[in-house]
Amino acid sequence: MITFGILATSPIAHEWMKAVTVAGGYKLGAVYSRSLEKAQAFADQYGSEIETYDSLESFLADPKLDLIYIASPNGLHFQHSRLALEGGKHVVVEKPAVLRPFEWASLFSLAKEKGAMLFEAARNVHEKAVTLVSDFLKDQEILGANLRYGKYSSKMPALLAGELPNVFSAKFGGGALMDLGIYPLYVAHYWFGKPDQVSYQAQKWDWDVDLAGQANLVYPRSLVTIQTAKNYTTYLPSEIYTRQGTLILDSVEEIKSVRFRDLAGEEEMLPVQAASHQMAEEAMDFAQIIENEDWLAWEKWAELALDVHETIWKLRQAAAIVFEGDKDAE
Ligand SMILES: NC(=O)c1ccc[n+]([C@@H]2O[C@H](COP(=O)([O-])OP(=O)(O)OC[C@H]3O[C@@H](n4cnc5c(N)ncnc54)[C@H](OP(=O)(O)O)[C@@H]3O)[C@@H](O)[C@H]2O)c1
Repeated sequence: MITFGILATSPIAHEWMKAVTVAGGYKLGAVYSRSLEKAQAFADQYGSEIETYDSLESFLADPKLDLIYIASPNGLHFQHSRLALEGGKHVVVEKPAVLRPFEWASLFSLAKEKGAMLFEAARNVHEKAVTLVSDFLKDQEILGANLRYGKYSSKMPALLAGELPNVFSAKFGGGALMDLGIYPLYVAHYWFGKPDQVSYQAQKWDWDVDLAGQANLVYPRSLVTIQTAKNYTTYLPSEIYTRQGTLILDSVEEIKSVRFRDLAGEEEMLPVQAASHQMAEEAMDFAQIIENEDWLAWEKWAELALDVHETIWKLRQAAAIVFEGDKDAE
């Protein structure tokens, strides 16, 4: 059983609670919030023996916690992950785990030094359907793909009214690429590897960060296009093109159906079985790797995360998306 603490009482932390209930093997031990009342209100929903904190230091020093689930704004993930790892805790940090690749590299070596595991909660890449697609493609020659995730943000009205929600703030590492583009980027790296060249055209208008955009990932023999948006929703499916036909996915952020249409027009459905909660499969993977002390599997996920963040960094530079703190990284 992994006893974990929740860092930040955002709505996604409640989703994590549902996911670990489905996954099994986890127990909530403590909750941290900047406000003790919020920590208590969160804890009250899940049991009576859950410690609450408004001191980050005391929370991270709680000896009963094996793992910290971090659901703070993007711009605080690095700092929060570092503090948790320094205390020898395993970490699951929400995506995007870092704003700059060197931050992930430094967390990776800190985790190794402390004998702790650090995971980026890139939920979609842990879906069984993603492995199913990999297996299906393994003998096919990939020619290209169009992968997309665009969803109108519930925080758009606030942005348009002159407020600056964290998810659109350059200070907190916001924008479409960081928030939603990371999902197609993750599966692109998982399925096709690290691209040789990348470019990103972003719609920024009057804002510092991207509200939408299109990235091209160039491979030696294929071209993968990524569409992402927070100012509109796209209902188009994603597609992968091979020498034998086209694989059509209803989505790449939560795959529910995949079908292959060959060059003669014959269709085959892949046997996708979606989990009952979209974060459950990542929670299961993390628990299994931690419980089995499977360092090889952990390194594989950590290296994939590094590749994704190196690509995101290049994409941001291509579209001049600059976050607070980027200068120190150069
Ligand atoms: N995996 C998924 O499907 C999924 C879905 C949505 C979001 N996410 C990720 O989850 C993370 C949180 O997203 P969100 O939209 O909930 O972010 P958010 O509203 O900006 O903040 C999340 C929480 O962090 C704390 N917080 C807010 N501002 C802070 C500040 N200035 N300093 C310190 N703490 C602060 C708050 O918790 P307290 O008030 O308790 O301190 C807040 O509830 C993001 O990284 C996002 O990408 C993942």
